[in-house]
Amino acid sequence: MEEQLRTVANILKGSRIVVALTGAGISAESGIPTFRGKDGLWKKYRAEDLATPFAFQRNPKLVWEWYVWRMNIISKAKPNPAHVVLAEMEKEGILKAVITQNVDGLHFKAGSKNVIELHGNIWRIRCVDCNWKTVLNSPPIKIPPICERCGGLMRPDVVWFYESLPQDALNKAFKLAAQSDLMLVIGTSGVVQPAASLPLITKNHGGILVEINVADTPLTLVCHYSLRGKAGEILPRIYKYLKRKNNGNI
Ligand code: OAD
Repeated sequence: MEEQLRTVANILKGSRIVVALTGAGISAESGIPTFRGKDGLWKKYRAEDLATPFAFQRNPKLVWEWYVWRMNIISKAKPNPAHVVLAEMEKEGILKAVITQNVDGLHFKAGSKNVIELHGNIWRIRCVDCNWKTVLNSPPIKIPPICERCGGLMRPDVVWFYESLPQDALNKAFKLAAQSDLMLVIGTSGVVQPAASLPLITKNHGGILVEINVADTPLTLVCHYSLRGKAGEILPRIYKYLKRKNNGNI
């Protein structure tokens, strides 16, 4: 493993455009539940009841209760060393952008600036009628919240199943994936499209893929390097080699 970490650090040093694609796994060590896997949210809850536009039409209060529960967890969560290392790498000009499927905002909290939120942000809400948007800093007391402009129902400004991704974010993500010569694929199960196809775009354009995950995923087969372990432990170890002048090779 140590040898692999050193190699990845060397490739990072020699890369022009490095991008990270992150999923729920990067926030697991911050105490935010992931969606799949043993204790994943989709084991306990049905996405059809909570994360589709039809579910919201049917029972907005139930959907909001679930989001308030998640907001309460997220509001207490702090960025972990994985978020922090990515923010440091951006500051130092090593990392160009983070493309995330997470709605928890922890990359921004850690200090990352160029973050593309493919699935929205849990703290932003929008009116289903007039599309007015606002940002919350704590979970709403009265649910469902009502639009100040038109009296319509406000919903979380996140992407649900059967919905398309924000066009601007998606365009940026595709462009970055095509440009990057190294993509770090961190804590994602790689089964939700279109995010899961971004690494393939990088690879098809000649870029290198480095997966950091506690388990194998469908993307493992296409990744050039697969580092098994927690993102909050692996990323600081790579960063340590990045900071070494001769990278410990001589
Ligand atoms: P998942 O919950 O599907 O996958 C989390 C991944 O993180 C798994 O591959 C785990 O093995 C890995 N993992 C867990 N803990 C880890 C750790 N400490 N370090 C590294 N890896 C770890 O999450 P996503 O792939 O992000 O979409 O899920 C994609 C989308 O599916 C979500 O954005 C959400 C969900 O339905 C919507 O709600 C639209």
